[in-house]
Amino acid sequence: MGVMALRALVFLVLLGPWAAGAQTPDEPTQRCTRRISQTLGIGYRASLQSLAGATPQSRVRTWLESRDAIATFAGFINARFSPAPGANLAEEGVAAAVRFIVTNKKPWRELFIGRYKINHTNNLITEDPTAPALGYFGSVGWQKRYLGNAPDGLMLTAAYRTMQNTVGLKLLPSAENGEGDVTATGRERAECRGCHFDSPYALDYVARLLPRKVGTGGGARPEKVPVTAQTVFNGVQVRDHEHLVEVLVSSDAFLFRTCRLAFEFVYGRPESACEAAMFDRCVDAFARTGMIQDALASYLEDPQYCEAVP
Ligand code: HEC
Repeated sequence: MGVMALRALVFLVLLGPWAAGAQTPDEPTQRCTRRISQTLGIGYRASLQSLAGATPQSRVRTWLESRDAIATFAGFINARFSPAPGANLAEEGVAAAVRFIVTNKKPWRELFIGRYKINHTNNLITEDPTAPALGYFGSVGWQKRYLGNAPDGLMLTAAYRTMQNTVGLKLLPSAENGEGDVTATGRERAECRGCHFDSPYALDYVARLLPRKVGTGGGARPEKVPVTAQTVFNGVQVRDHEHLVEVLVSSDAFLFRTCRLAFEFVYGRPESACEAAMFDRCVDAFARTGMIQDALASYLEDPQYCEAVP
């Protein structure tokens, strides 16, 4: 084929459907495409061209598979799961783990209980049947990030993040917590027990199932220690670290947390009470398959999404 012919072909391919005489999509189609492409962080013009007569919402599943959409979603999840940027690459494995799960179409719970390893020099992820069933919670980078400062080495910060990430637990400790006796005995004081011992999500009991912080300063690191079963979550006997995360991701709270995250990603704000029907449809879809793609699509494919004011 001559260079000219090749050029012409490239030109035709670039022009796509319009070259073949297709109409420019109407205004509602453009608006809906713009909305979806902005949410997913994919190119608007390319998305519009890829429609080829189909409705934008019928393309959601395909667009969700694009690298850009997956990267956008991974960045969003990372921001929701982490209170601040990590100190180094090794502490920033969450976004890579999300990309791995979504790209490989694994159930969302695998993010938290999958057996995979994160290479901390490049955040490349490999499946590893010998790894603990702890997803990124099992990585040294993540554990180091949330070692915390408790004098007894209990990783209270990691315990809290584990529950915040999986079931959306939200506790607001006050700055005064650091005052006075902060040891386990100190945390049993009336003003501390509410969060540390007396709640179904008692931080101290949950932290006892995790590795412990050993060493100080730059040498501080997590170390796996023998643990004894703890009774948490209103009477559940939890055996160890792996069992803890398994229990968390098997709860209804995990379904709700996931559909809240999906809603926030799609709408850019938390859901309100009048959106309960949509929220329920997400929970049903997600409970059925366990796929985050189905949670996201339940909102993105809903007619309401493209009717809503941008
Ligand atoms: C409203 C709930 C709440 C109350 C009340 C509370 N804490 Fe906490 N505490 C937390 C949470 C959540 C964390 C994990 C903090 C984080 O991840 O930033 C934590 C962490 C800690 C840590 C570990 C800090 C670290 O950096 O590793 C200590 C020590 C602690 N709390 C002591 C106390 C003491 C002492 C009191 C009472 C004076 C108290 N807390 C009251 C919620 C609470």
